[in-house]
Amino acid sequence: MEIYKITSPKEWSYFANGSANILFKYTGTNDYLTHKLLRLRLLKEDEEYISTCELYDFIELKCKHLFPKQIIDIQLIVLTSEFVRGLDSAGFKLQLNERYGLLIPNILDGNYTKIALSKHCQLYLGSDDINTTIGNQQQQSRQNENNHTRNKADYSSLTQDISSLTTGPDSQQRPPINNNNNNNNNNNNIIPNGHPMNENIANFPLTSHGTINSIIFEIKPKWLYDNKSSNYCRTCSLNQLRNVPRHFCPLDLLYPTTIDQGLDDIFSKIPKEIIDLIEVENNFPLKQLFCQFLSNPDHNVFAKLKQYQKINNKNDLIENLTSSSDVSQNLSLVMTLRDVGLFIKFEKYDRNNDIHNSHNNINNLITLPTASPTHINGGFGGAYQTTPSSESSHTYRDQDQSQIQDSAKRQEESGRKYLVTCNIYDLDLKSRMKYKYWLQVEHELQGIYNSNNPNWRHCCKYGSLENTNS
Ligand SMILES: Nc1ncnc2c1ncn2[C@@H]1O[C@H](COP(=O)(O)OP(=O)(O)OP(=O)(O)O)[C@@H](O)[C@H]1O
Ligand SMILES: [Mg+2]
Ligand SMILES: [Zn+2]
Repeated sequence: MEIYKITSPKEWSYFANGSANILFKYTGTNDYLTHKLLRLRLLKEDEEYISTCELYDFIELKCKHLFPKQIIDIQLIVLTSEFVRGLDSAGFKLQLNERYGLLIPNILDGNYTKIALSKHCQLYLGSDDINTTIGNQQQQSRQNENNHTRNKADYSSLTQDISSLTTGPDSQQRPPINNNNNNNNNNNNIIPNGHPMNENIANFPLTSHGTINSIIFEIKPKWLYDNKSSNYCRTCSLNQLRNVPRHFCPLDLLYPTTIDQGLDDIFSKIPKEIIDLIEVENNFPLKQLFCQFLSNPDHNVFAKLKQYQKINNKNDLIENLTSSSDVSQNLSLVMTLRDVGLFIKFEKYDRNNDIHNSHNNINNLITLPTASPTHINGGFGGAYQTTPSSESSHTYRDQDQSQIQDSAKRQEESGRKYLVTCNIYDLDLKSRMKYKYWLQVEHELQGIYNSNNPNWRHCCKYGSLENTNS
């Protein structure tokens, strides 16, 4: 598609960026482009540059079949130099000779409030009180100004980490600063002139009266493998090297016996008031749903990622690389999968919502038992695709079809059915020239893998886990 034929650069505003890509949000009125983002390459040294066409082929040919339902849809689009130059890139330097870009759905489209939990984990609270289908930022700003009579959901700024996505271009989806991040390879949290991106956080008290219908976790799982011998896994070791505070160990999300620990750690960074807002005021059993999502082996995307991150050959170990030509196709794929991001979205089920009827969601329904009250540390009961769910299974047998339907309807009405949708994004092919950097980091990590940091618990060891599902 030749995008410049249907839209002008003025209809795109800066949305977010990472170390290699910048995203623009569509603000025009074309239905096809509404709810979409344009993802373009940032300027890079020639030898490290991977073009958008190469990225596209790599995702479509090498990655898509591994996660056909989860990898985010991408569409290759043709750009002109004039179009690229016309974009307002908020000071970031674009690869101006690039003639292609990617069009992707905006997973954070709608009325979301961001809560930054840590470098690799963000939480977004979604409410449709204002309007869930706003793709037009100007329209949204206008609505925000005029919504005195509406029940605006305002969960903003309990702490300095919380910023709203709904209040205009400057506060949109800009990653929070992480002062401890001295990794030059990732400028996620820094704007070009080095200032923090969350400077203009509003400081409102917690006055939320809106209904939370949808909650999204954005997580980078990083390196997933069975840790057989080290005190610290690769991710926890690197975080210590970079002085990134501990949040959770990604390996804990892999095994039935460690999932609770992983979730306790993830939730430990959510302010108590926000937990209450979610779990009590909105009766949204988020932790229980997350646990269900991880406990089902067919749905645990972390376990599946681990499977495909597997190194089969000692030549694919980073420490054995001696030149860029040593980087095999398998290692390239593994390095990409070690850097993907996930959006895990939990929604209250609404049987009138057509979006839920897409084939992607058929297996993603979670029905929780109706009887037990919802608590953050409550039992993790519930099941996938077990409508209707009930405390006593014998009641199923006694029910006829219409009773079952009535019961299902009641559950929908009482909000006990949820959908969980997982999208994988950022499947960037890495330049083989990065092997030097990979080697360097591995070298720096050697002293950390088996160290003892009194402020950092050891990561789980595969051999000493009971009941592990590898
Ligand atoms: N489809 C999407 N919908 C909503 N937000 C998105 C989407 N894709 C990316 N983002 C946001 O934009 C940010 C940067 O995007 P992305 O990860 O693709 O850039 P990158 O340069 O590859 O980052 P990195 O340096 O981590 O590799 C993400 O952290 C995420 O918050
Ligand atoms: Mg990337
Ligand atoms: Zn770890």
